[in-house]
Amino acid sequence: RVLLAIVGCATLFGGASATCAAADNVNCPTWIKSGFCDNYSPVTLAVSCPKSCPKAGCGATAVPSTGTNTTTVTENANCAKWNNDPKNGFCATATADQKKIFCKTTCAAEIAAVDDCAVFVQTGDKSVRTGGNRTTTIKTAATTTNLLMNVFAKEKCTVGLYSVEAPAATDTVIKSYGPATAPSQYFKITVAAEQAAKGVTCMCT
Ligand SMILES: *[C@@H]1O[C@H](CO)[C@@H](O)[C@H](O)[C@H]1NC(C)=O
Ligand SMILES: *[C@@H]1O[C@H](CO)[C@@H](O)[C@H](O)[C@H]1NC(C)=O
Repeated sequence: RVLLAIVGCATLFGGASATCAAADNVNCPTWIKSGFCDNYSPVTLAVSCPKSCPKAGCGATAVPSTGTNTTTVTENANCAKWNNDPKNGFCATATADQKKIFCKTTCAAEIAAVDDCAVFVQTGDKSVRTGGNRTTTIKTAATTTNLLMNVFAKEKCTVGLYSVEAPAATDTVIKSYGPATAPSQYFKITVAAEQAAKGVTCMCT
């Protein structure tokens, strides 16, 4: 619930104009403990916590003491739960800012992706990430119950989903995602045949 509130607000405030709200959001003390004042843009801070975050440019001069060192971003206790929930898949669906603020450790592979491509397969009650590079094929280990939920592609990389583990040039791609147009792009997989894909290729230009 807390996460939903935060995600909702972050989305709403993303496109707001840089005006200072009359009062802080009631959740500011909680958000500030997670490093809110340090991690969001001045526009977002001005709309959400103008009285508490100096970077908002609304007259606040110091981050209020909350009993927690606000410069240290801590890992939310629910990160594993959020990330493993197939409807949520936090590390593959949250914004870059949200990953950094709330789940720095759980989402480390997504925050600083070293792989060109990756797949996220729901395995039992866990979301399992398997990375691969442009020269490799990823075996997904997806089955009819362990579903491929998300794919990741670095900028200019295209992910191809196949029904065989080691696709050859003669195999027909079920679906391609990309080329990614952002440094990191995630695609949510919702079609059954794609969710059961066994082999994934990664091609980058
Ligand atoms: C808060 O954490 C930062 C980064 O770890 C550290 O540099 C700073 O000294 C800490 N401040 C206090 C008051 O503990
Ligand atoms: C992909 O390449 C990067 C950098 O060359 C490397 O760190 C990473 O481990 C590779 N990923 C896989 C799955 O081999």
